Amino acid sequence: MGADVLKKLVDEEEKGAELSLRPQSLRDFIGQPNLKRQLRIIINAARKRHEPLDHLLFYGPPGLGKTTLATLLAKEMGVDIRVTSGPALERAGDLASILTSLEEGDIFFIDEIHRLHKSVEETLYPAMEDFKLDLVLGKGPAARSLRLDLNHFTVIGATTRIGLLSSPMRDRFGLVQRLAFYSNEDLQKIVIRSARVLGLAIGEAAALEIARRSRGTPRIANRLLRRVRDFAEIEANGQVTVNVVREALAMMAIDEQGLTKTDRHLLQTLAREHQGGPVGLETLAAMLNEDVGTVREVYEPFLLQAGFLKRTPRGRMLTRRAFQLLKLPLPPGWQDQLFSQE
Ligand SMILES: Nc1ncnc2c1ncn2[C@@H]1O[C@H](COP(=O)(O)OP(=O)(O)O)[C@@H](O)[C@H]1O
Ligand SMILES: [Mg+2]
Repeated sequence: MGADVLKKLVDEEEKGAELSLRPQSLRDFIGQPNLKRQLRIIINAARKRHEPLDHLLFYGPPGLGKTTLATLLAKEMGVDIRVTSGPALERAGDLASILTSLEEGDIFFIDEIHRLHKSVEETLYPAMEDFKLDLVLGKGPAARSLRLDLNHFTVIGATTRIGLLSSPMRDRFGLVQRLAFYSNEDLQKIVIRSARVLGLAIGEAAALEIARRSRGTPRIANRLLRRVRDFAEIEANGQVTVNVVREALAMMAIDEQGLTKTDRHLLQTLAREHQGGPVGLETLAAMLNEDVGTVREVYEPFLLQAGFLKRTPRGRMLTRRAFQLLKLPLPPGWQDQLFSQE
């Protein structure tokens, strides 16, 4: 089997598994108490007035529940959801055909909304604001423009890069909410819930052990749980104990803080070859042989949040904590005040 085919199968397995583990209601959505509270109010108010939900925008690192929220909001409201992504809408016409097919109250989920093409974005503005669609029919002097009425729908946008969204786009959302990394306690609840869905017995301590290594991210917690399950089935008669979790994760080279080989490589190279920085994002990406976007959206947020990396005006720098983790001495002339900003 070719590597591509294999990767595709793995991705599909992951997608399928993710689908079945996805909470179907706000009640099953664990953590993010402030966000849930706001959503509950918005849902109840809309229901009471028999009106569609206001347009909502969720942002934050991958795997924190943006898509999950969009699908469960559709369920809560009893409406259909159309799912697309910014880059998939190539022409204003692609958008028009979706918009004209939406029923009253339907949710239109646009993932990676920061990647919408300009022309599509401009067609979307009046649609979101006035529920009108401006179409140009024909070309040249014979062209006519036509204004269509649309049903009142709800756009739910998701992005990992809120900074790249134009301000007119942002302004069209009634609620703009960041998803934060999850606490270990919340991740533990997610692992226990997922284990139940998978029909797997797991103790609280073992669930916490997985949670602690999941980088604050439910998607990673679920992924680790599935790998631990595999390991337990083959090596431990299906028993998921703390020790089984430790062994399984050690085999996957995931350490106590949930750092992967790539994370450790990044920190080590920064320490050894750049005296802890500062270095630019491009340099970091080159060190890892990854593209800049992946480093910024996938690797960096957790390292920042966990306090191993700092963003400074001159570039990315390691923290004292990172040197401790790596068991490396601080470089000569190391100054902590440089890092206490931000
Ligand atoms: N708050 C949560 N409670 C329980 N499970 C969650 C929660 N948030 C995310 N998940 C799980 O993590 C997986 C990834 O979430 P997803 O919504 O796809 O993230 P995003 O769209 O932000 O990248 C989902 O399949 C779901 O099983
Ligand atoms: Mg998503």
